[in-house]
Amino acid sequence: MLLNLILVLLLLQQSVRHDPHSYSNPQQIRIEHTDLNLKVDFDKKQLHGHVTHKLKTVEGQSPTELVLDTRRLNIERCEVSTDGSNFTTAKHQLDKEDHILGSALRIALPQNVQSVRIYYHTSPEASGLQWLNPNQTADKKHPFLFSQSQAIHARSWIPTQDTPGVRFTYDAFIDVPAPLQPVMSADRHETKMLGRYRFNLEQPIPAYLLALAVGDIHFQPIGKRTGIWAEPSVVAKAAKEFEDMELMLEAVESMYGPYRWGRYDVLILPPSFPFGGMENPRMTFATPTVLAGDKSLVSLIAHEMAHSWSGNLVTNATWSDFWLNEGFTVYLERRILEKVYGKERAEMEAQIGRNILEKSLKTMKPKEQLLYIDLKGIDPDDNVTDVPYEKGFLFLLHLEKLAGRERFDAFLKGWFASHAFQSVTTPIFVAYLKKELLDKDAALANAFPLEEWINKPGLPKDIPTVVSPALGKAAGFAKGWSGNAVLAQDLPVKKWSTQEWLYFLRSLPESLPASKLKELDDAHHLTQSGNNEILAQWLEMAIRANYEPAYPRMETFLISIGRRLYVKPLYEALLKTPSGKERAKAIYAKARPGYHSITSGTIDEMMK
Ligand code: BES
Ligand code: ZN
Repeated sequence: MLLNLILVLLLLQQSVRHDPHSYSNPQQIRIEHTDLNLKVDFDKKQLHGHVTHKLKTVEGQSPTELVLDTRRLNIERCEVSTDGSNFTTAKHQLDKEDHILGSALRIALPQNVQSVRIYYHTSPEASGLQWLNPNQTADKKHPFLFSQSQAIHARSWIPTQDTPGVRFTYDAFIDVPAPLQPVMSADRHETKMLGRYRFNLEQPIPAYLLALAVGDIHFQPIGKRTGIWAEPSVVAKAAKEFEDMELMLEAVESMYGPYRWGRYDVLILPPSFPFGGMENPRMTFATPTVLAGDKSLVSLIAHEMAHSWSGNLVTNATWSDFWLNEGFTVYLERRILEKVYGKERAEMEAQIGRNILEKSLKTMKPKEQLLYIDLKGIDPDDNVTDVPYEKGFLFLLHLEKLAGRERFDAFLKGWFASHAFQSVTTPIFVAYLKKELLDKDAALANAFPLEEWINKPGLPKDIPTVVSPALGKAAGFAKGWSGNAVLAQDLPVKKWSTQEWLYFLRSLPESLPASKLKELDDAHHLTQSGNNEILAQWLEMAIRANYEPAYPRMETFLISIGRRLYVKPLYEALLKTPSGKERAKAIYAKARPGYHSITSGTIDEMMK
């Protein structure tokens, strides 16, 4: 018993202590509040100014240095203060760069230090920023800048304790050239000075949720707490597409407790944004590729919004605990979809997710298939696989089915409430799960293979499946049409949702001849599809079949869109044949300058 307790304490302590992706020393001293003062210079592609961190020394510690994470930052001067208002120059040292982690910045501390201030500027190739020329934006008139800090890129634009285990509040003054406007993951205020904006966030967040975007962006409200920021030609379309945002927010609140962040707005970025969405507090950043015109891709908004509970409120303490963010969020996302759009929609998404997961597991190494994963020496950007998302989802679905919805909902709500504004590890969650659910119900504990779920590859046997009758039918048509029993023009596509189309396409045999694709294209114009999810799937099939008529569209797609999830499979498919490889290289040469470094980093690796 005592031994057990000591073990748990040790584990907990270690979990707070060790984040292999940060050089910082929060076990000695922590940032409590950050004040940013930055000027945005589009000509030099740099942010310059200073940051002041208010520090709190951990009880019993007397640190002699503050270690901050940086990457390619130009540090001009460091200052320290013991009263928070008078600053004096302090010695600092920038360590040698590690290609994943960047460089540790060491600042010598006086006794009783209260604050440090760092004068610096970013480099044009900062990994967490993308500077866009006007022609890379929707309206092609003004330049654009956006940040993407997750997982460990905040350090490329702010010297900070860049670990999700440390949380702080922040204020910022941002200067931008008029008429451009900045937004941040914070409350926004105009000031009396032209081009100067003030921000503040009173809820403590980890560094990966620091966010900034600057462009010719305008606001259109949706509900009382919700709205859209986007370029002029995009804003109305996006507000229509996402008009259910306020309803979604109410749906989550009814299940998992109040929304704790004040407003919820969405910023629509230019198409080079490397992700579908990023859950920056108060201001989700989203790819324009979800603007399908028929709300068919709004699951992305449900997902990013859900992070306001799973991720932003209760945060993975290290990137090894990433599934606590993403698996929980996929689960919440589908519960939102069910509440707002009905059970069928949620079932379809779940079945599509299961399918994708099973496919990926086939090609992944066993150690990559673990929920609680060892990422020492691994770039956390490379752990964005279907495992934390879809296996994490199935973990929670399994629990839900065994415990029953009512009990499980109360459990989850309790988890968010009791760990609000905390960073949590897998052992912390496991301890909570045991205490609140498994220890109270022996039958449940017996039926739930906890250890296997967390620490074993693959999926446990006999776990629940979600079956969507509509998708079953779509798969039936895939069989019928590919086997020449159904004609392309006789497919009941008028009634198909995007999800049914996707499932139909994904259920087709891997090796269809180009003539068959032509048949489908002639009847349903897939090469001209305005739905990017369907289009990306179709283009991948077109490459596999060497279906020439789709190639011009594929090239435009790859050159104009930088969302990694879409472009990676297309290059992968191209690289499988010698002629495809040539084509891939030629297209990539044109596309690469427009890609974000997260996307080009991934594609560079593949092209080697
Ligand atoms: N937080 C993630 C994006 C992310 C993960 C960025 C890891 C950097 C490192 C975001 O919530 C996400 O999961 N986005 C998905 C969309 C979602 C609907 C599955 C994406 O971008 O594809
Ligand atoms: Zn997510």
